[in-house]
Amino acid sequence: MFANKKHFTSAIVGALIALSIIALVLSLVRIEDVTLPPTVKYGMVFDAGSSHTSLFVYEWDSDKENDTGVVSQNLSCDVQGQGISSYANDPPKAGDSLRECLDKAMKVVPAGKQRDVPAYLGATAGMRLLREQNSSAADQVLAEVTKTMQEYPMAFKGAQILTGEEEGAYGWITINYLLESFTKYSPKAHAWVRPEAANIFGALDLGGASTQISFMPENSVMNWNETSKFTLYGYSYNIYTHSYLCYGQNEMLKRLAKELIVESSSSTQVDHPCYPKDYNETISLSSFRTSPCTNQSDPRLILGDRNVTLEGRGNASGCLAAIKKLFNFSACGQRQDCTFDSVYQPPVRGQFIAFSAFYYNFKFLNLTKGQSLATVRETIEHFCARSWENVQNPERLPKYCANANYILTLLLDAYKFNETSWNNIFFQMKAGSADVGWTLGYMLNLTNMIPAEPPARVKGHIPSLWAAAITFIILTLALGLAALLLLLWV
Ligand SMILES: *[C@@H]1O[C@H](CO)[C@@H](O)[C@H](O)[C@H]1NC(C)=O
Ligand SMILES: *[C@@H]1O[C@H](CO)[C@@H](O)[C@H](O)[C@H]1NC(C)=O
Ligand SMILES: *[C@@H]1O[C@H](CO)[C@@H](O)[C@H](O)[C@H]1NC(C)=O
Ligand SMILES: *[C@@H]1O[C@H](CO)[C@@H](O)[C@H](O)[C@H]1NC(C)=O
Ligand SMILES: *[C@@H]1O[C@H](CO)[C@@H](O)[C@H](O)[C@H]1NC(C)=O
Ligand SMILES: *[C@@H]1O[C@H](CO)[C@@H](O)[C@H](O)[C@H]1NC(C)=O
Ligand SMILES: *[C@@H]1O[C@H](CO)[C@@H](O)[C@H](O)[C@H]1NC(C)=O
Ligand SMILES: *[C@@H]1O[C@H](CO)[C@@H](O)[C@H](O)[C@H]1NC(C)=O
Ligand SMILES: *[C@@H]1O[C@H](CO)[C@@H](O)[C@H](O)[C@H]1NC(C)=O
Ligand SMILES: *[C@@H]1O[C@H](CO)[C@@H](O)[C@H](O)[C@H]1NC(C)=O
Ligand SMILES: *[C@@H]1O[C@H](CO)[C@@H](O)[C@H](O)[C@H]1NC(C)=O
Repeated sequence: MFANKKHFTSAIVGALIALSIIALVLSLVRIEDVTLPPTVKYGMVFDAGSSHTSLFVYEWDSDKENDTGVVSQNLSCDVQGQGISSYANDPPKAGDSLRECLDKAMKVVPAGKQRDVPAYLGATAGMRLLREQNSSAADQVLAEVTKTMQEYPMAFKGAQILTGEEEGAYGWITINYLLESFTKYSPKAHAWVRPEAANIFGALDLGGASTQISFMPENSVMNWNETSKFTLYGYSYNIYTHSYLCYGQNEMLKRLAKELIVESSSSTQVDHPCYPKDYNETISLSSFRTSPCTNQSDPRLILGDRNVTLEGRGNASGCLAAIKKLFNFSACGQRQDCTFDSVYQPPVRGQFIAFSAFYYNFKFLNLTKGQSLATVRETIEHFCARSWENVQNPERLPKYCANANYILTLLLDAYKFNETSWNNIFFQMKAGSADVGWTLGYMLNLTNMIPAEPPARVKGHIPSLWAAAITFIILTLALGLAALLLLLWV
């Protein structure tokens, strides 16, 4: 009997010890891990630019939705052929052009999740120009891409034309999200902290038909008409952003050719200072009519179907001078807070990421390693003087001299970077795991993944360790008490 009682007591004590160990283990494991295993979510965005379209598929853990820097790029796919605006005369082809990339995307998203994938198409300056020219053609193109996307098993959320300011702002959001400049979890402070305002990056984007600049200016010089205000993670940001339509690199090249032709005395052969020596390009004057950027009524040019041969001269200084004429700097007078055409811009501030065509052109010229402005100028001058036979590689090669001089003019004369602030421009294509562009910021905003409120979720095991310790102490005390009572009773 006594022995039985003793066994019984030991059994009870053993059970209590086991229970307290289980409680300890359970309290050490995060509740989320037990009840909500994180699932991977996906989203996709088509960037329908003026010269080409790309598809980006993003993924992230559902339980980290509101943190910065957790979205990664799963896939990027370049659509074959021209931008969707080039299908104005055959809109169904615009829809068809997307299929190859959509098929690829369907292969990376598990079948069970496809129906939940938010899918967007955003079109930029090429479609802004087409809408200006023929809005019903632009509507038809959008209707066709919508039709195609709706055939796929995903949550289609819309195809629309972004304004230039949205394009600029979303690029700015993408960069600062990827570089975690909005908010960052500090394991030391166990809290979300906002990095210094000085660590917020500006965004420089150069496309085929437009270019955007976006940055956080000094508050004191803010012109409230030109700023967008966002509240992200509990802080508000006043961003200056401006988009220049017809100042993308392809439209710029067209405007340059048109100006050179208009000013030339010859009607069939025109010198082109930016093209390499021994390089000729024949263009038809009717090609100017396809864009509102070159189809302004210009009394100096009767647009016929005449063909003109542009003859390369490889003249760096002549190229720079010709490009400067594409800007109306005199409209700013002596004002420093003005770029050209009387457009207001506060002084540039902080560090900038220069991506898209800013990056591609400078990458080709090996100028993305933080070279000084003097080195950059010298390299470009040297490159412009090379003749065509030295420059092997077809297609875009003859354009690099013009593009590089255009970039210099835009950054220095228009935006007013100087020798010092030049060193704050970083030419790069990626930040962290993703390509830099407007698409990620666009998706984050439209899926409400950048909350206005600061993150509240507490991360880490520290609080649960405390809970575990307390549970353990209470259980041990209870156990001791129970054992004591049992022994006394026995
Ligand atoms: C993200 O933030 C929104 C709004 O603040 C909130 O409703 C949502 O539950 C949050 N999601 C997660 C996973 O924390
Ligand atoms: C505009 O586009 C529509 C549809 O493509 C076409 O039928 C129409 O002729 C175009 N209008 C002009 C002025 O080009
Ligand atoms: C701001 O816009 C208003 C009206 O749109 C205009 O009257 C005012 O002059 C603008 N202010 C500046 C500083 O540009
Ligand atoms: C370019 O055109 C000029 C005449 O317009 C001709 O003399 C020259 O040979 C051409 N060069 C090439 C490489 O075709
Ligand atoms: C080009 O401009 C002329 C005159 O302003 C206009 O009649 C014509 O429709 C324009 N062409 C296009 C394609 O916009
Ligand atoms: C312009 O050149 C193209 C081929 O390059 C030719 O088909 C066209 O007939 C030419 N146009 C004129 C007006 O000479
Ligand atoms: C280059 O162009 C400039 C300006 O058009 C001109 O003054 C200069 O003579 C040209 N240089 C050469 C080598 O052709
Ligand atoms: C530049 O802008 C000013 C002021 O708007 C205007 O008077 C001038 O004609 C423009 N110059 C050119 C070359 O367009
Ligand atoms: C850039 O650098 C690479 C390798 O160093 C070289 O092959 C290439 O010619 C350079 N490009 C230019 C435009 O100088
Ligand atoms: C360069 O620009 C920055 C900001 O725009 C300005 O603070 C600085 O004084 C300028 N430096 C020179 C040498 O002009
Ligand atoms: C993001 O979306 C909200 C609406 O959900 C809108 O009010 C806000 O202006 C958007 N942000 C940007 C940068 O466009």
